Amino acid sequence: MDVYGLIGNPVGHSLSPPMHEAGYERCGLDARYVTFEPAEDEGAQAVRSAAHLGVNGLNVTIPFKQDVLDAVEPDPLAARIGAVNTVDFGTDPPTGYNTDAVGVVRALEHHDISISGRAVVVGAGGAGRAAAFGLADRGVAVDIANRTVEKATALAEEVTEAEAVAGTATGQGLEDMAALLADADLLINATSVGMEEDRSPVPAEALHGDLAVLDAVYAPLETRLLRDAAAAGAETIDGAWMLLYQGVEAFERWTGESAPVEAMNEALRSGLE
Ligand code: ATR
Repeated sequence: MDVYGLIGNPVGHSLSPPMHEAGYERCGLDARYVTFEPAEDEGAQAVRSAAHLGVNGLNVTIPFKQDVLDAVEPDPLAARIGAVNTVDFGTDPPTGYNTDAVGVVRALEHHDISISGRAVVVGAGGAGRAAAFGLADRGVAVDIANRTVEKATALAEEVTEAEAVAGTATGQGLEDMAALLADADLLINATSVGMEEDRSPVPAEALHGDLAVLDAVYAPLETRLLRDAAAAGAETIDGAWMLLYQGVEAFERWTGESAPVEAMNEALRSGLE
């Protein structure tokens, strides 16, 4: 039997176990997916221990995504982002991937949205980094808007200066979203705004019908931003798609099989209801 899992602290409410196990079942794989909660300073050690125990693959979540870099060889994208959310123990040393970044791109592709033109990424934390690098890696011009301007400009500089990244990036505050979005094709919310309260990080009047809007928030699925975007005639993609495709990409890295996206999506969404 193959063993996959998730390390994070806390991991109690994760929907990754039912999502991945639905995939194993559909593919007839003899595998299990379990959660582990190491102490906050033991992320890298947990990855080394998992390798010794013969674990096949691990997802990594908060607060360990940077720490585990000490225990893996990151692929070029994960190295640029400086964060790993998926470890494959099929190599020595284990390989670290950032499927959050690829997940953003694949969630958009699932909806037949062209990965080109201009994207506005709101947020410059972990999710914003993954989205900005994932899109710039595919040649998209990324404008990063963040409450703390310095974090947006610093991230934009990193993206622009990264070797082998086709796209460029700019950084700014949240003040002039209408001007920023006027000629944008994509809008990604990578902040937590919309999770606790029914609020949007972007004024409704800045949205328009030529946008595709992806919200990383998945609880609730129907955020204020997505409601405003739909009212403006934009295409909307909820946060479960990002969660799904980071998992799909991990599944495929680990098993070498094409993931049963529908079965995994069904399991994920029934857990989110
Ligand atoms: P994650 O890993 O999910 O991205 P994070 O690293 O804590 O989490 O980043 C949270 C993001 O949401 C940041 O971009 C943060 O803006 P700051 O860098 O200015 O802190 C943004 N954010 C959180 N609360 C916000 C709010 N009320 N308004 C605007 N942005 C907010």
